[in-house]
Amino acid sequence: MSTKVITFGTYDVFHVGHVNILTRAHDLGDHLTVGVSTDAMNFSKKGRYPVYRQEHRLEIVASMACVDEVFIEESLDLKRQYLIDHKADILVMGNDWEGRFDEFKDICEVKYLPRTDDISTTDIIQDIRSRIDD
Ligand code: CTP
Repeated sequence: MSTKVITFGTYDVFHVGHVNILTRAHDLGDHLTVGVSTDAMNFSKKGRYPVYRQEHRLEIVASMACVDEVFIEESLDLKRQYLIDHKADILVMGNDWEGRFDEFKDICEVKYLPRTDDISTTDIIQDIRSRIDD
Protein backbone atom coordinates (compact mmCIF):
# COMPACT_ATOMS: atom_id res chain seq x y z
CA MET A 1 0.00 0.00 0.00
CA SER A 2 1.28 3.47 -0.80
CA THR A 3 2.20 5.91 1.98
CA LYS A 4 0.74 9.40 1.78
CA VAL A 5 2.68 12.26 3.33
CA ILE A 6 1.26 15.72 3.99
CA THR A 7 2.88 18.96 5.07
CA PHE A 8 1.82 22.59 5.47
CA GLY A 9 3.43 26.00 5.24
CA THR A 10 3.46 29.47 3.74
CA TYR A 11 6.47 28.98 1.42
CA ASP A 12 6.81 32.72 0.83
CA VAL A 13 9.97 33.91 -0.98
CA PHE A 14 10.72 30.25 -1.72
CA HIS A 15 14.19 29.26 -0.44
CA VAL A 16 16.47 26.26 0.05
CA GLY A 17 14.99 25.46 3.50
CA HIS A 18 11.68 24.90 1.72
CA VAL A 19 13.35 22.72 -0.94
CA ASN A 20 14.97 20.60 1.78
CA ILE A 21 11.84 19.98 3.83
CA LEU A 22 9.72 19.13 0.79
CA THR A 23 12.38 16.77 -0.56
CA ARG A 24 12.76 15.02 2.79
CA ALA A 25 8.97 14.82 3.27
CA HIS A 26 8.65 13.22 -0.16
CA ASP A 27 11.34 10.66 0.71
CA LEU A 28 9.25 9.43 3.67
CA GLY A 29 6.48 8.07 1.45
CA ASP A 30 5.10 7.60 -2.06
CA HIS A 31 2.90 10.66 -2.45
CA LEU A 32 3.38 14.19 -1.09
CA THR A 33 0.53 16.66 -0.58
CA VAL A 34 1.31 20.24 0.46
CA GLY A 35 -1.16 22.66 2.06
CA VAL A 36 -0.15 26.23 1.25
CA SER A 37 -1.57 28.74 3.71
CA THR A 38 -3.67 31.69 2.58
CA ASP A 39 -2.46 35.28 2.59
CA ALA A 40 -5.07 35.99 5.29
CA MET A 41 -3.75 33.19 7.55
CA ASN A 42 -0.26 34.58 7.22
CA PHE A 43 -1.48 38.06 8.12
CA SER A 44 -3.26 36.86 11.23
CA LYS A 45 -0.22 34.76 12.31
CA LYS A 46 2.65 37.13 11.49
CA GLY A 47 1.04 40.57 11.15
CA ARG A 48 2.18 40.97 7.53
CA TYR A 49 1.00 39.75 4.16
CA PRO A 50 3.35 37.44 2.26
CA VAL A 51 5.51 38.97 -0.47
CA TYR A 52 4.16 36.42 -2.96
CA ARG A 53 0.38 36.02 -3.13
CA GLN A 54 -1.14 32.62 -2.39
CA GLU A 55 -1.82 31.62 -6.04
CA HIS A 56 1.85 32.19 -6.88
CA ARG A 57 3.11 30.39 -3.75
CA LEU A 58 0.85 27.47 -4.66
CA GLU A 59 2.20 27.38 -8.22
CA ILE A 60 5.83 27.50 -7.08
CA VAL A 61 5.34 24.62 -4.62
CA ALA A 62 3.39 22.62 -7.24
CA SER A 63 6.29 22.99 -9.69
CA MET A 64 8.61 20.92 -7.46
CA ALA A 65 9.20 17.42 -8.85
CA CYS A 66 8.85 15.97 -5.33
CA VAL A 67 5.34 17.46 -4.83
CA ASP A 68 2.38 15.44 -6.13
CA GLU A 69 -0.56 17.56 -4.98
CA VAL A 70 -1.19 21.02 -3.56
CA PHE A 71 -4.16 22.82 -2.03
CA ILE A 72 -4.84 26.10 -0.29
CA GLU A 73 -4.99 25.76 3.50
CA GLU A 74 -7.81 28.08 4.56
CA SER A 75 -7.63 27.70 8.32
CA LEU A 76 -5.51 26.15 11.08
CA ASP A 77 -8.73 24.85 12.61
CA LEU A 78 -9.35 22.59 9.60
CA LYS A 79 -6.07 20.68 10.01
CA ARG A 80 -7.73 17.46 11.20
CA GLN A 81 -10.22 17.58 8.32
CA TYR A 82 -7.39 18.12 5.80
CA LEU A 83 -5.53 15.10 7.17
CA ILE A 84 -8.67 12.97 6.82
CA ASP A 85 -9.64 14.32 3.38
CA HIS A 86 -6.15 13.71 1.98
CA LYS A 87 -5.86 10.29 3.69
CA ALA A 88 -2.53 11.30 5.24
CA ASP A 89 -0.42 8.52 6.78
CA ILE A 90 2.34 10.91 7.89
CA LEU A 91 2.19 14.60 8.81
CA VAL A 92 5.56 16.29 8.41
CA MET A 93 6.47 19.67 9.91
CA GLY A 94 9.73 21.47 10.58
CA ASN A 95 10.95 21.18 14.16
CA ASP A 96 10.08 24.84 14.81
CA TRP A 97 6.63 23.27 15.27
CA GLU A 98 7.89 20.49 17.61
CA GLY A 99 5.00 19.09 19.68
CA ARG A 100 2.41 21.46 18.25
CA PHE A 101 0.66 18.82 16.13
CA ASP A 102 0.88 15.85 18.50
CA GLU A 103 -2.91 15.94 18.89
CA PHE A 104 -3.16 14.33 15.43
CA LYS A 105 -1.17 11.23 16.42
CA ASP A 106 -4.51 9.41 16.79
CA ILE A 107 -5.07 9.52 13.01
CA CYS A 108 -1.56 9.61 11.49
CA GLU A 109 2.13 9.52 12.28
CA VAL A 110 3.50 13.00 13.13
CA LYS A 111 7.15 13.73 12.27
CA TYR A 112 9.10 16.91 12.94
CA LEU A 113 12.15 17.27 10.69
CA PRO A 114 15.12 19.48 11.59
CA ARG A 115 14.98 22.92 9.96
CA THR A 116 17.72 23.93 7.55
CA ASP A 117 20.13 26.17 9.45
CA ASP A 118 20.45 29.91 8.94
CA ILE A 119 17.68 30.61 6.45
CA SER A 120 14.11 31.82 6.75
CA THR A 121 11.72 34.01 4.77
CA THR A 122 11.72 36.56 7.59
CA ASP A 123 15.54 36.77 7.53
CA ILE A 124 15.59 37.15 3.73
CA ILE A 125 13.08 40.01 3.89
CA GLN A 126 15.11 41.65 6.66
CA ASP A 127 18.30 41.24 4.66
CA ILE A 128 16.77 42.86 1.56
CA ARG A 129 15.41 45.70 3.71
CA SER A 130 18.80 46.39 5.24
CA ARG A 131 20.50 46.41 1.82
CA ILE A 132 18.01 49.04 0.60
CA ASP A 133 18.47 51.12 3.75
CA ASP A 134 22.30 51.06 3.43
N1 CTP B 1 11.52 25.24 7.00
C1 CTP B 1 12.71 24.50 7.18
N2 CTP B 1 13.91 25.14 7.26
C2 CTP B 1 13.98 26.50 7.18
C3 CTP B 1 12.81 27.27 6.99
C4 CTP B 1 11.59 26.59 6.90
O1 CTP B 1 12.65 23.28 7.28
N3 CTP B 1 15.17 27.08 7.29
C5 CTP B 1 10.24 24.55 6.95
C6 CTP B 1 9.32 24.94 8.11
O2 CTP B 1 9.66 24.22 9.27
C7 CTP B 1 7.96 24.55 7.55
C8 CTP B 1 8.13 24.80 6.03
O3 CTP B 1 9.53 24.91 5.79
O4 CTP B 1 7.70 23.18 7.77
C9 CTP B 1 7.44 26.09 5.60
O5 CTP B 1 7.94 27.11 6.44
P1 CTP B 1 7.58 28.65 6.31
O6 CTP B 1 7.02 29.14 7.59
O7 CTP B 1 6.79 28.87 5.09
O8 CTP B 1 9.06 29.26 6.07
P2 CTP B 1 9.98 30.16 6.98
O9 CTP B 1 11.22 30.46 6.21
O10 CTP B 1 10.15 29.54 8.34
O11 CTP B 1 9.11 31.48 7.08
P3 CTP B 1 9.11 32.65 8.19
O12 CTP B 1 10.49 33.17 8.33
O13 CTP B 1 8.15 33.67 7.60
O14 CTP B 1 8.57 32.02 9.46
